[in-house]
Amino acid sequence: MKMTVVEIEEGAKDNAASTLKSRLANQSRALLSMRLLQILLLFLVLTLGISLVGVHMIKFLKIQPLAPVAPTTLISALDHGTVSLESFIRPPSNVWHTMNDTELLWRASMEPRRKVYPFKRVPKLAFMFLTKGPLPFAPLWEMFFKGHEGLYSIYVHALPNYKSNLSRSSVFYRRYIPSQAVHWGEMSMCEAERRLLANALLDFSNEWFVLVSESCVPLRGFSFVYSYVSGSRYSFMGSADEEGPDGRGRYRDGMEPEITLGQWRKGSQWFEIKRALALEIVQDTTYYPKFKEFCKPPCYVDEHYFPTMLSMKHRIFLANRTLTWTDWSRGGAHPATFGKADITETFLKKLPGAKACLYNDQRSQVCYLFARKFAPSALEPLLELAHKILGL
Ligand SMILES: *[C@@H]1O[C@H](CO)[C@@H](O)[C@H](O)[C@H]1NC(C)=O
Ligand SMILES: *[C@@H]1O[C@H](CO)[C@@H](O)[C@H](O)[C@H]1NC(C)=O
Ligand SMILES: *[C@@H]1O[C@H](CO)[C@@H](O)[C@H](O)[C@H]1NC(C)=O
Repeated sequence: MKMTVVEIEEGAKDNAASTLKSRLANQSRALLSMRLLQILLLFLVLTLGISLVGVHMIKFLKIQPLAPVAPTTLISALDHGTVSLESFIRPPSNVWHTMNDTELLWRASMEPRRKVYPFKRVPKLAFMFLTKGPLPFAPLWEMFFKGHEGLYSIYVHALPNYKSNLSRSSVFYRRYIPSQAVHWGEMSMCEAERRLLANALLDFSNEWFVLVSESCVPLRGFSFVYSYVSGSRYSFMGSADEEGPDGRGRYRDGMEPEITLGQWRKGSQWFEIKRALALEIVQDTTYYPKFKEFCKPPCYVDEHYFPTMLSMKHRIFLANRTLTWTDWSRGGAHPATFGKADITETFLKKLPGAKACLYNDQRSQVCYLFARKFAPSALEPLLELAHKILGL
């Protein structure tokens, strides 16, 4: 700028001087431009260097950018923002979580649409225990599961304020899921079952889902149960169109048009279903409000919601029977309970075949794999007979 001003001022003087001056000015201008360019280049090299070093530092020190807020429910906290398959498919070591039911059900309803897994998937049996708190038959179940690690997962739904004091070595240790109060015969019972299913669905390897209660005991060893369930074409959900006040009599007209009397089904609360049907249950927002509003005692919703809902779209997948033996012969709203004095070898031996049934459309000797209800006093004789009867 200064140079230009000088040039204009002295432009009025003689021509020769003026030419020399302007040449000098041109030279110094070129020199200045060179300087500027050099400084600019130096600056460029410097910034480039700094950013390169920075990038390397980030990589070296494993400083990761903050994870975006929205997808945190899909990407595990262990990811630190880097999406990897490993962290997505690894089941959480602790089943406790901070999701409420709305969040849990949404997340559990995710289903891979590609049928081939890009990792070695060993299908597991998920055992879902619905209890008030304690598990009186835990020692028997411990024997049942022993040696079959990797083929099963366990989930326990207890009353919300129940504190278990299990030892670290127990298969039930840290398997209690976040729960809510359950009232017998009410929708909260189905909600608890749905909560168990949703938690179990978070593990991609769980393929079959068995619901049992604290008063349930196994009638066969784990290997037998695993091959019986995995080899079945059907899911063991009871689903019958029953006449009378305890069947069709519990239907309410208000359920139409979603549910008609002809679609109304009844089945045992204790079921075993495959993954596709479990997904169907956690994603349901059509039938749930109808059952919640219209099926109240003496309509025991746990005997109708899943059997009716699943038989509408998936009846060809249902065995229409349960795997859990229960004695209703004494009548009333609750089945018979068996205690210490009832447990004999003869009694236990006849339970699996207590009623005729079909397995994969063939007549089968074994129809029941579990039985209820048993009082805690039955534990001792059951443990004594476990080796002989259950092959444990
Ligand atoms: C769960 O939390 C979400 C987000 O705060 C909320 O919209 C939803 O209503 C909650 N659901 C329940 C059942 O509390
Ligand atoms: C758990 O607590 C109960 C009583 O509160 C006790 O009888 C039992 O032995 C405890 N079990 C373990 C494994 O500590
Ligand atoms: C179960 O019952 C349905 C009718 O509700 C029927 O279509 C299906 O074939 C039955 N399943 C078996 C295994 O018999």
